[in-house]
Amino acid sequence: MLSNEHIQLVKSTVPLLEASGSAITDYFYNRLFTHNPEAQNIFNMSNQASGKQSFALFSAIAAYAKNLDNVEQLLSMVERIAQKHTSLNIQPEHYDLVGHHLIETLRELVPEQFTADVEEAWTVAYQALAAIFIAREGELYKQREVLKGGWKGGRQFKLVEKRIESELVKSLVFEPVDGGPVIDYQAGQYIGIEVQPKQSEFKEIRQYSLSDKANGESYRISVKREIVGKPGIVSNYLHDGLRLADEVTLYAPAGDFFLNKTAAPVVLISAGVGLTPMQSMLETLLAEQGSKEEGSLQKSAPQKIHFLHACENSAQHSFKKRLTSLVQKNKVKALTWYKSETLEQADIHHGFMDLVSVEEQLPLALGDFYLCGPVAFMQFAKQQLVTLGVNDDRIHYEVFGPHESF
Ligand code: HEM
Repeated sequence: MLSNEHIQLVKSTVPLLEASGSAITDYFYNRLFTHNPEAQNIFNMSNQASGKQSFALFSAIAAYAKNLDNVEQLLSMVERIAQKHTSLNIQPEHYDLVGHHLIETLRELVPEQFTADVEEAWTVAYQALAAIFIAREGELYKQREVLKGGWKGGRQFKLVEKRIESELVKSLVFEPVDGGPVIDYQAGQYIGIEVQPKQSEFKEIRQYSLSDKANGESYRISVKREIVGKPGIVSNYLHDGLRLADEVTLYAPAGDFFLNKTAAPVVLISAGVGLTPMQSMLETLLAEQGSKEEGSLQKSAPQKIHFLHACENSAQHSFKKRLTSLVQKNKVKALTWYKSETLEQADIHHGFMDLVSVEEQLPLALGDFYLCGPVAFMQFAKQQLVTLGVNDDRIHYEVFGPHESF
């Protein structure tokens, strides 16, 4: 059983790990991929190749170990990772594998500090954490299997539609090959998609937010072509390589960033391709309200929706036409910022998103604020909201890619 001494011992080795920079993490991945090459089917090898480690396992374990005696705090931290892990189909045996290479890495790299006591502390802490993850991930897998349209592991889907949304973004719609229904996800969640582009030796799994409301039959993602630096293997494959009727493997919808079910006004704030979960939230909220566009009856007093978006220019503004049509027909207040283009339109601003300049239009005291986009953008937007007096617990956010708190 994990004791206080174990936790202290693990914590005491953290400075040593941090001082080594990425050397220990690099050694760990190298060891893992050399002894178990099949693990490369799970990890994002583009991140590995660019030296951008998606997650620093050692510091994550140390951070979690600190909270092993604070279960409430720990469970909220575990939830996000467990959701991510399930979209990668991670199984209990993977924990044994990672645990083994983790201990061996420490033994080989820092033999002097890795005394028998330290080894025992790391082993026990790792096993305790792994048990918590395995239990939660097991629950999530089971829930998704029994839901209507649910499934276990990977399921084959075929591409039924591909559409250009803007200069850099294309939407792709997938239906299951078996013709059955699919799980209704929560707006804001993502799916895991597994493909093997020609130039990849291994399978590649990525997470993409679902960008439409749930319909029980198909899933739509909207993918930005990654062209800055090294071109994204998967995004370019989805844009150019994958053709109609081609198959991909999907893992069931996951993620703990989604709309709270309240009647409070909702403010959806995004930048760039961070727009995709917001588009899903917008479509979902309007459908729930009985959108006039769909021609159905108004079911309840409409919840006020604000849709704030920042992007480079109108050519990179995804879902622009759709937004205009939703704004005209529904109670949506849309405000847009183009960084490098000036238009003579009252609701389109020039430059960076400036919330202070539109403060009187925002439900600062009552609203729920959802943010999605690059980390720097979210820090910037959150800071403005805090300055305007918005309560921290009303600000919800999703980070694309490796998570950093701010
Ligand atoms: C992602 C922690 C075990 C595979 C992550 C992230 C954290 C984390 C903090 C980043 C999540 C985010 O950015 O939102 C842990 C901890 C573990 C553990 C504390 C053990 C107690 C495992 C195992 C595997 C695994 C056993 C499978 C072999 C991954 C992958 C990612 C990830 C593939 C996504 C990043 C990438 O693609 O490179 N994990 N993890 N993890 N984890 Fe784990």
